[in-house]
Formats: sequence, structure tokens, C-alpha cells
Amino acid sequence: MKFGIIGLGYVGLATLCGLAKAGHEVIGVEKDQPRLLRLMNGDVPFHEPGMADVLRDHHGSITFTDSIADTETADYLVLAVGTPSKQDGSCDLTFVDAALSEVNSKHKIIIRSTVLPGTTDMLSVMYPAHTFAVVPEFLQEGRALADVLKPHRVVIGSDNLEMCEELAGIYGRLGVPIVCTSPIDAEFIKYASNAFLATKISFINDLARLADKAGADITTIADGMGLDPRIGRSFLNAGLGYGGSCFPKDMHALLNVASENELDLPVIRAAMHANDAQMAYVASKVEPTSDLKVAFLGLAFKPGTDDMRDAPSLTLAQLLTVRGVDVIGYDPLAKWDFPQAETVEAALEGADVAILVTEWDELVALPPEAFDGMRTKRLIDARNAWKYARDPGTVQYEGVGRMQNKENTPSSM
Ligand code: UDX
Repeated sequence: MKFGIIGLGYVGLATLCGLAKAGHEVIGVEKDQPRLLRLMNGDVPFHEPGMADVLRDHHGSITFTDSIADTETADYLVLAVGTPSKQDGSCDLTFVDAALSEVNSKHKIIIRSTVLPGTTDMLSVMYPAHTFAVVPEFLQEGRALADVLKPHRVVIGSDNLEMCEELAGIYGRLGVPIVCTSPIDAEFIKYASNAFLATKISFINDLARLADKAGADITTIADGMGLDPRIGRSFLNAGLGYGGSCFPKDMHALLNVASENELDLPVIRAAMHANDAQMAYVASKVEPTSDLKVAFLGLAFKPGTDDMRDAPSLTLAQLLTVRGVDVIGYDPLAKWDFPQAETVEAALEGADVAILVTEWDELVALPPEAFDGMRTKRLIDARNAWKYARDPGTVQYEGVGRMQNKENTPSSM
């Protein structure tokens, strides 16, 4: 089959790679010229393991262009353009509209962009020549290709039975559960999943603050809770709060949909509030004294990516710098506008506090001696991930929700 993919950001490029790997012919459309040129040269414009290999290994079946007209002969068009948040939390559909108004001939269109519940139905009315299905993506950055090739499930939302069946046939080859439903249900499943995961993180972060006060260890609590299959251990890592291009944006969007329907969603609202509170809580562990220098170890919103969109490091840096603290950051890949060091050693040199912000492998494995260059050897482990937490040597160690007295607890015996 032949697929046209419109918009080659994370979602579009991951979809393109997945389809090419599955043996389909793909035409990728990207309007941003520098990005397009990089892709034409086989260069992936962001850090994502495995994608450059797919572009190289399947270059015979992949074409890049800046013109939607070149997708004329495709069997399906996949729309993966950005849907940024507007000020009020609603989705900006400018790029979706721009792309659809350029599709001249009648097409079967798969919406991969994250769109608010009701959008696909609205687009079907606005562009009646086409047939629509919404197939939301659930990929996580850093493992996008694996998530596209072997997702936990595929959700297909379409009112057109024929298109649902065709797509179920194509995705059926992945051997994963498939949900065929209405467009609005499919759109909801995407938002509900992200909101649930974000809420799970806020829940454990709430308890982490309590554990700090009560003298308990949140990681042991999460391990114990996670053994119950109804709860599960994943997304119960307490720390600095969630960030990234999806969770914060999707939570805002859900609240916006609710308010348009004259509803409040108190759980979602509380989870967002808890996320803000968590970053403020970690910031409050640093007592601003004059001439205080804080080194951030890790800047990206999570390890394995160079993505700084809604990164908690930015919020934390703002909270500290307004209190007169000097901040310097180090990250293996990500960049920011605050001062940045080229190496961990340079970031830590003369610092009073180090904060482990992003749990990169190389950072969680730093031995206690790595902190020798600091003015005061104090580490706040904002991800509860440092490998030497139980044997910190001369480093003053503090996690989040780990004000534990481990010697006396049964789990350490
Ligand atoms: C997320 C969803 O997981 C994915 O399904 C969706 O398609 C897009 O949004 P992603 O943004 O790549 O994916 O990041 P994810 O790995 O989910 O992490 C999101 C944030 O939550 C990160 O800031 C991470 O550090 C934080 N997090 C995650 C925690 O604080 N604790 C956890 O236990 C898990």
C-alpha cells in the first residue's frame, strides 16, 4: 500500500518509519524546509533511537517532499501535523485545516494528530469529500519506534465501517489488541489515557511529600502498591512531576472541553495543581543563601530525549532564579537558555547543591567522588534514581519522599 504522511514531527516520522518497516511505500510531506532537507539526507531532526536506521534501510520505499499534491496517488493520507495548545487550553487546528484544504482529490484520511473529542466528526462535516478515521498514537519519546511497531493497543475511530475494517486488517498484522469505535470515543481514549497516567504520577507525588514528613520511603511504598495488578508499578515514580509535550497540554485541553460543557473535572484539576506543587516543593528544599550556586544534572523532560517542551527543569530553574539562586545545567543532549556546562564536572565545580533533575543513565551512575569539586557536597535526587543513595559516602543525600530511617525497616533487613 502507499501512504502519504503529512507532518514529520515525532508522531509523523515514527508513523512513517513504522509503515516503511512494515513494507509499505511512504511519502512524507514536511513544509519546514530545513527539517525537510535534513530528512532528505537521512538525518533525523531530533534524538530518537532507531529512526535513522529505518530511513537508511528503507530509503527505496521512502520519498520526502514539501508538496501535499505529491501524495495524490496514495491509498491513505495520514495527518500528523501539530495541534498546539491555545491560551485557553483548546487545540489550535490551523495546521490541520491548512493541510486538509490542500488535499484536492477524494482521499481516505487517518488523523494521527492529537485532536480534541469531536474534532474528527467536525472535520467530516467540513471536508465531506473525504472519509475519515482517527487512529491516536500512544508513543513515548525515546521508544517511539518500538511503540509504533508493537503498541499496547491500536484504537481506530471511524463511522465508516469499510475504513474501520481495512485499517483493522492493516494494523491486525501487528498482533496487538484492536479497538474499533466511534471517532469521539477514540479521541477520548487518547486524552483519558494520558490524563490517567499524569494523575497516577501526581498521586504518588502527593504521597511522597507526606512520606518525607512521616519518615517513610516512597519507592518502597510504590513497589509494594505496584505488586497489586489492579494498580501496577509503572508511572508510580515520585519525583519532580511530569512534563513533556503531551501530559501538561492534554490535561489543560481536557479541562477546557469540560468547561465548554459546563463541567468541572476536580480530579484532573487537582492532579495539575499537585504537579505544580511538586516542583515548588522540590525548589523549597533549596534554602537560598547569598551566592548560592545550584547545578542541575539533566535538563530534558525525561531521559533518552533532547526534548525541553514543558520540561520540569525550566520551572524549577525559574523558581530558584527568582529567589536569587545561580543555576547551571548539564545534559547529555538537551539545551536551554540558562547557563549550561559542557561536562558534569564543570557543572558541579564550586556548586553548593546538585539536583538530579533527569535520570539519564550516566547521571544516576555518578559515583560519590564525582561530587568532590562541589563547595558543599549536597545532592537532591529529584528522581529518586541515584544508584548510591544507600551508600552516599560523604555526599549529603536527599531524595523526594525518602526521609527514611532504612536501618530499621523490614525491607532492608
Ligand atoms: C506520554 C505518554 O506516555 C504517551 O503514551 C503519549 O503518547 C505521549 O505522552 P512522553 O511524553 O514521551 O509520553 O513521556 P512519558 O514517558 O510518559 O513521561 C511523561 C512525564 O512523566 C516525564 O516528565 C516523566 O519524567 C514523568 N514521569 C513518568 C514521572 O514523573 N513518573 C513516572 O513514574 C513516569
